[in-house]
Amino acid sequence: MSASAAGSVSLGGEISVHRLGFGAMRLTGPGIWGPPKDRKGALEVLRRAVELGVNFIDTADSYGPNVSEELIAEALYPYAGGTVIATKGGWRRPGPEQWTHDATPSHLRAAVEGSLKRMRVERIDVYQLHVPDPRVSLEASMETLAELRREGKIRLVALSNVTREHIERARKIVPIVSVQNRYSFADREWDYVVDYCEQNDIAFIPWFPLGAGKVAGETLARVAKAHGATPMQVALAWLLQRSSIMLPIPGTASVEHLEENIRAASLRLTRQEFEGLAEAPELVPTR
Ligand SMILES: NC(=O)c1ccc[n+]([C@@H]2O[C@H](COP(=O)([O-])OP(=O)(O)OC[C@H]3O[C@@H](n4cnc5c(N)ncnc54)[C@H](OP(=O)(O)O)[C@@H]3O)[C@@H](O)[C@H]2O)c1
Repeated sequence: MSASAAGSVSLGGEISVHRLGFGAMRLTGPGIWGPPKDRKGALEVLRRAVELGVNFIDTADSYGPNVSEELIAEALYPYAGGTVIATKGGWRRPGPEQWTHDATPSHLRAAVEGSLKRMRVERIDVYQLHVPDPRVSLEASMETLAELRREGKIRLVALSNVTREHIERARKIVPIVSVQNRYSFADREWDYVVDYCEQNDIAFIPWFPLGAGKVAGETLARVAKAHGATPMQVALAWLLQRSSIMLPIPGTASVEHLEENIRAASLRLTRQEFEGLAEAPELVPTR
């Protein structure tokens, strides 16, 4: 059981990571706010993920806020060679379940400084603009990240929650190594962005990758049964087969679920199963 069974994907031709990562958003308290109820358990999940070959961990300053980045450092620092932590900035958190945009240059600058300290690194491997801020030009946000990269505080720049037009505008300012949008076999709004990323060697990180598992339809259950697998594992295997640039980051606060998810790295669907799921009706999750 290892994340390496999913193969690897390159980030900007500079770093190679196993194609099954870990999303550290759910390690915080309810409403993605405050510390987890089970701190010891959260640290154990992170350590087990790395033991199981996960070398790409996704987080953000807004998860907690700060809590997710602090837990990652507490569990994993000093980081094993090859471990890539991708964080993000661009939100403020006034309270539980509350998210307000702020991708102004001054906020992004302060956010990067805060993430460097909390994660105890001198340079952030991958820094993602969490979401474009409607009140700030995308160019101003990206210029700031490009400057921070020139200053050596960020190694690689990435985007999240963007359209193809955003990616094209951002790439005129700084190379973009990954795009993180909501996506699963039954939630395909961003199919054209996946195709664009594939054509341009940009990794695509689907968030809420298990959304489809929650609304497990008949097709999903049938495929799962045929493989002695769970619907969640099939949903992840579908993503991995969708494109070689796909890098799912399923999140969980449970070691048992983590192990179940990592086993999906070695699950291969037949062409017929893959296509049957691709044609399943859109079941866009409400969240
Ligand atoms: N860029 C963005 O705007 C954005 C937005 C949302 C998320 N993200 C990132 O994407 C990551 C994943 O997204 P997500 O957490 O929304 O969705 P997810 O990984 O699809 O789902 C997480 C939920 O599924 C449960 N789960 C996980 N594995 C399971 C399993 N094997 N069986 C049953 N339930 C399972 C988890 O609960 P348990 O703890 O009980 O297992 C959790 O409630 C996040 O951690 C975060 O890093 C990014």
